Amino acid sequence: MSQQRKILVTSALPYVNGSPHMGHLVEYLQTDIWVRFQKLRGHDCIYVCASDAHGTPIMLKAREMGITPEALTEGYSAEFANDFRDFGIEFDNYHTTHSPENEALVTEIFEALRKKGDIYTRTIEQAYDEKERMFLPDRFVRGTCPFCKTEDQYGDACENCSKTYTPADLIDPVSVISGTAPVMRESEHYFFKLSEYGDRLRAWMTDATLDKNVVAKLNEWFDAGLQDWDISRDAPYFGFRIPGTDDKYFYVWLDAPVGYMASFMNLCGRRKDLDFDAYWRPGSDVEVYHFIGKDIMYFHTLFWPAVLGGAGFRTPTSVFAHGFLTVNGQKMSKSRGTFIKARTYLDNLDPSFLRYYYAAKLGPTIEDIDLNLEDFIARVNSDLVGKLINIASRCAGFINKRFDGRLADRLPDENLFADFQGAADSIALLYERREYSKAMRSIMALADKANRYIDEHKPWVMIKDADRIADVQLVCTQGLNMFRSLIIYLSPVIPAVAASARRFLNEERWQWQDATSPLLAATLPRFEPLLTRVEPDQVTRMIEQSQESQPVPDTTADDDTISIDDFMNVDLRIARIEKAESVEGADKLLALTLDVGGSTRQVFAGIKAAYDPESLPGRHVVVVANLAPRKMRFGVSEGMVLAAGPGGEDIFLLSPDDGARAGMRVK
Ligand code: 2FM
Ligand code: ZN
Repeated sequence: MSQQRKILVTSALPYVNGSPHMGHLVEYLQTDIWVRFQKLRGHDCIYVCASDAHGTPIMLKAREMGITPEALTEGYSAEFANDFRDFGIEFDNYHTTHSPENEALVTEIFEALRKKGDIYTRTIEQAYDEKERMFLPDRFVRGTCPFCKTEDQYGDACENCSKTYTPADLIDPVSVISGTAPVMRESEHYFFKLSEYGDRLRAWMTDATLDKNVVAKLNEWFDAGLQDWDISRDAPYFGFRIPGTDDKYFYVWLDAPVGYMASFMNLCGRRKDLDFDAYWRPGSDVEVYHFIGKDIMYFHTLFWPAVLGGAGFRTPTSVFAHGFLTVNGQKMSKSRGTFIKARTYLDNLDPSFLRYYYAAKLGPTIEDIDLNLEDFIARVNSDLVGKLINIASRCAGFINKRFDGRLADRLPDENLFADFQGAADSIALLYERREYSKAMRSIMALADKANRYIDEHKPWVMIKDADRIADVQLVCTQGLNMFRSLIIYLSPVIPAVAASARRFLNEERWQWQDATSPLLAATLPRFEPLLTRVEPDQVTRMIEQSQESQPVPDTTADDDTISIDDFMNVDLRIARIEKAESVEGADKLLALTLDVGGSTRQVFAGIKAAYDPESLPGRHVVVVANLAPRKMRFGVSEGMVLAAGPGGEDIFLLSPDDGARAGMRVK
């Protein structure tokens, strides 16, 4: 083996105010596969994680439920830990940010930064809820966007026009907690001088060999100029109190990444061979990698390395960001049943399927990945069951029944096996670079080769020929050895299936290199099926169990209202009347020829009692331009003219002196 590396790996610490779902699993599975791969290669790799337990949303949710934040986060932490375990995600330690280790470390870091002069205080103005007696994070204030005037937007950015602003800029702001209008109030906050870390962060960025999209993002931030970071929050807050204050707390995003170190420190308490400083102080020979989602790059590539470096700790070797998950091409949705909790998946399907499917989709970039449920069924059945497991099931029966479980003492086609041996390095490199989808493709191409070999030799035909019985043992030994190499290559992805296969092959443990040396003359126990097909019913059931019932439309109150979306669908335009004529046989109607901006339409309008047709050409009207054409007794009407007034002779079109241009959109 090449030199043994010391590696410390983390996944982002999940907020424990809800249950784990399929979106969470992308990251933890991506990380777990990488860690298992490193361990299989013989490296000293440690994987730590923890619950992210602090912050306003957690405090408020606990309050709403009438329990303490500790009780809330402990409950969800247990749920996360169980689901992680059942998906085969194997941490060396899973801790919490609400721990003594974390409090000690974040305090130490803060004091070190303060001593260096990197912390200062400044009075800021912030939205304050007088009823709840608390300052409001930007997301807890909603109101009308000051730019595009869209209602009900968050206090930091508008979902409609994407502009960013502060809660003070909102029109008619409202506290999400009490529903009252917040006031602006002053408070003293602690700031970290991030603005002085530009050069060090640029140097770190170069060393860290980041994905090019991450580098592009960082450069954007550098170009925009680094702002100092507000690291404190006022009471009431669930977090750690800042030493020397009564009512100031560390902002959750300061202590969350410190939770990586705290979880490792907690592990050091159990594993006396580990030395905290050897991992976290400058000059460390350990590689430290953080797996994160693309939405939290700012925290991990700017704040975190700056805080670590400033406080006298080593910086991360690299940060690996991934994209988001869509299900069937769309955001996960409770009404569509695609907001699938990890536990609902586990109640219906084997975790190995999802591990494989995500691996088959994942690359090293921040591109989003899609869980297409039809493709999931097809891919798992075809690759895992049809290709991989099939190799073993086609050969194992003959070895078990006809040769007392004994493998031959040589391979009949060493050249073919050489292809399986030869792939070890290239597949390893793909795993190392987190090119999992490419690794899965290489492995499945080899599985196709193995199946072709068995198809060509047809052991089920050979067995009927007394002279060729010995050849069946050889062919099946070849087949099972190809299977063995493949399952070793796949073991970071489907460890549970690999463990069953290893037991069937009667081996104690595997390392990566074992895939390159054949297993010969061994006696195997009885073969049990390793994996069964996914049935579409299982997926249907999972969706049904995830589906939240749709609200029943309220037929009593607002049933004659339309949503803003409905309104936006109406194409209202100013049209110029070109011609107006009476309609034979219709007392109230006029046939209008309208210029709606480049094209003309015929519209029948019930305005004859109010307007003399001759007075109309040249006037403007408001018309619904996208109404489906309606066939009337007198011809087709291609729109609807809007008018005001009580009716009869009192119907009013646009005023005659309007200066509107035909075709102009009204909204
Ligand atoms: O975005 C999140 O879900 C955060 N809880 C991640 C924290 S990662 C780390 F910094 F702790
Ligand atoms: Zn807006």
